[in-house]
Amino acid sequence: MTTAKIPGAGPAGRILVVGGHGAVGTVVVRALDAWFPGRVLPAGRDEARARRTGGVRVDVGDPDGFRRLLDRGGVALVVLCVEPRDATVARLCLERGVGLVDVGATARLLDGVTALGETAGRAGAPAVLSVGVAPGLTNLLARRVHEAVGGADRVDLTLLLGAGERHGADALRWTVEGLATPVPGRPARVGLPDHGTRTAHPFPFSDQYTLPGTLGVPDVTTRLCLDSRPLNAALFALRRGGRARPAARPGVRRLLRDVMGRVHVGGDAFAVRADAWRGERHAGLVLGGRAQSRVTGLVAAHVARAVLDGAVPAGVRHIEEVAALTGLPDRLAAEGAVSLRTVTSGAPRPAGSAR
Ligand SMILES: NC(=O)c1ccc[n+]([C@@H]2O[C@H](COP(=O)([O-])OP(=O)(O)OC[C@H]3O[C@@H](n4cnc5c(N)ncnc54)[C@H](OP(=O)(O)O)[C@@H]3O)[C@@H](O)[C@H]2O)c1
Repeated sequence: MTTAKIPGAGPAGRILVVGGHGAVGTVVVRALDAWFPGRVLPAGRDEARARRTGGVRVDVGDPDGFRRLLDRGGVALVVLCVEPRDATVARLCLERGVGLVDVGATARLLDGVTALGETAGRAGAPAVLSVGVAPGLTNLLARRVHEAVGGADRVDLTLLLGAGERHGADALRWTVEGLATPVPGRPARVGLPDHGTRTAHPFPFSDQYTLPGTLGVPDVTTRLCLDSRPLNAALFALRRGGRARPAARPGVRRLLRDVMGRVHVGGDAFAVRADAWRGERHAGLVLGGRAQSRVTGLVAAHVARAVLDGAVPAGVRHIEEVAALTGLPDRLAAEGAVSLRTVTSGAPRPAGSAR
């Protein structure tokens, strides 16, 4: 495996943060600007804002414009803090030897980027996927608990989100669309230190689809709950009723996005719990923090730094496959951004089960 510094990553290589004015992107820009002064270019569709922040106008829905920007040269790394419709933007980066860090959470899109592994390898470009909280820290914790039981046959991941946080519009869109996506599995009662026992619902985070491939764990489920119990119950009630469920109606989802963007009930704390089983053996870890958008941005900034420092080999990898990043939860804990503890009780029990 080659661990070369990426092409263009010299002192002049720029770091293009697409979505750099959003809830996640502003954190990425601030952190990277402190580590790599003068190299960060925030980017988004709003030309005036891009000009004000010393960035550039970019629309990931316009591949020709994106290609022209890259062909001007000088970009060493693209940090994607918005989800494009497909893998075209990733391909344009990787075939030019430009590194990629992707905070996207949609399995179908991440699979499209994973398929570019050979292109990235040929061009010497490193790409890291599953970057953020979920996917991201969930993947890293899953790897830890999987190893702690000596190779898990089942991993359960639980994410609690603070409904009081001002989540970005793109993240809200993703979450509301997730409500309409059918996901196998059942709700579970999960103990979350500082938050009590919660009912968490299967949700289409990409980690549960990619971890079976990267860790070899056959059975992975990711569940979501909100810190506000009434809101959690109301939101997931929209999923009931099969085809006629309210969450399947675009009008209902539009309304939900609007309401969730304006009304903030509860706090901004979040928690991630990972449980692994190998027969009767169990290992559990809980990570907690405030403001998941900020922590997602910090994770993305650390990953970008590892790429620019030459610590990530060429090719496409999920975060848990990069040796240099396995200690990231501890680094964030040491920086005071999150807390991390092992747990032995309160493991997920499917709702209604006496187990
Ligand atoms: N992995 C994780 O744990 C995790 C956690 C949170 C969020 N996310 C993902 O991170 C992404 C950003 O979330 P966020 O909360 O920061 O959302 P946000 O606040 O809405 O930020 C998105 C930014 O992208 C820009 N943008 C939107 N469409 C664009 C396009 N077509 N081309 C270029 N720029 C575009 C927007 O600025 P303009 O309007 O100026 O274009 C905006 O500043 C989402 O895809 C979300 O799913 C992942």
